[in-house]
Amino acid sequence: MQPSDVADDLSATLLSEQQIREKIAELARRVESDYAGERPLLVGVLKGAVMVMADLARELKMHVDLDFMAVSSYGLGTESSGVVRILKDLDADLSGRHVLIVEDIIDSGLTLAWLRANLESRGPASLEIFALLRKPDAAKVNVDVKYVGFDIPNEFVVGYGLDYAEQYRNLRGVGVLAPHIYS
Ligand code: XMP
Ligand code: MG
Repeated sequence: MQPSDVADDLSATLLSEQQIREKIAELARRVESDYAGERPLLVGVLKGAVMVMADLARELKMHVDLDFMAVSSYGLGTESSGVVRILKDLDADLSGRHVLIVEDIIDSGLTLAWLRANLESRGPASLEIFALLRKPDAAKVNVDVKYVGFDIPNEFVVGYGLDYAEQYRNLRGVGVLAPHIYS
């Protein structure tokens, strides 16, 4: 669906499908040159990263392997606690692989900091992070992210994989959720 299909639920449209497509293409050119001659393993974090994974992988003019992981943050409410539980682990063995974690969004950074440490311990040849969105004002830990699509304001956003109560993941863009939806 388009932002216009849920216009009453959004206080603003932050990114259009077109803007996202162009940015992913731009970042894909960097990934191609950085991994020239290699066959990287893209690790998507379910469920939010499915759209980024699908679009990035198809944009890349090189062979890649795809794998997925599902994690959940322990803790109360919507705040990420940094204590993470693996709901679905990877199928792939990471030892000696060039691994690129693909994420929808970095908010506090706690989830990715944990994930990076966890995957690092499995002996990859290299480990980098690709995130479509980042909220610089929400950072609680500094995570080194090699590829970032857009820095966005510290507001709750939905679309392009990101959900509120499992809705809006199929929105073809990113919007700010209107307060009347969650309050
Ligand atoms: P942290 O804080 O650990 O958060 O970097 C990571 C996960 O929290 C979710 N998240 C969001 N989901 N809109 C969403 O729909 C948001 O604005 C948002 N901010 C964080 C997301 O799953 C991310 O991987
Ligand atoms: Mg996520």
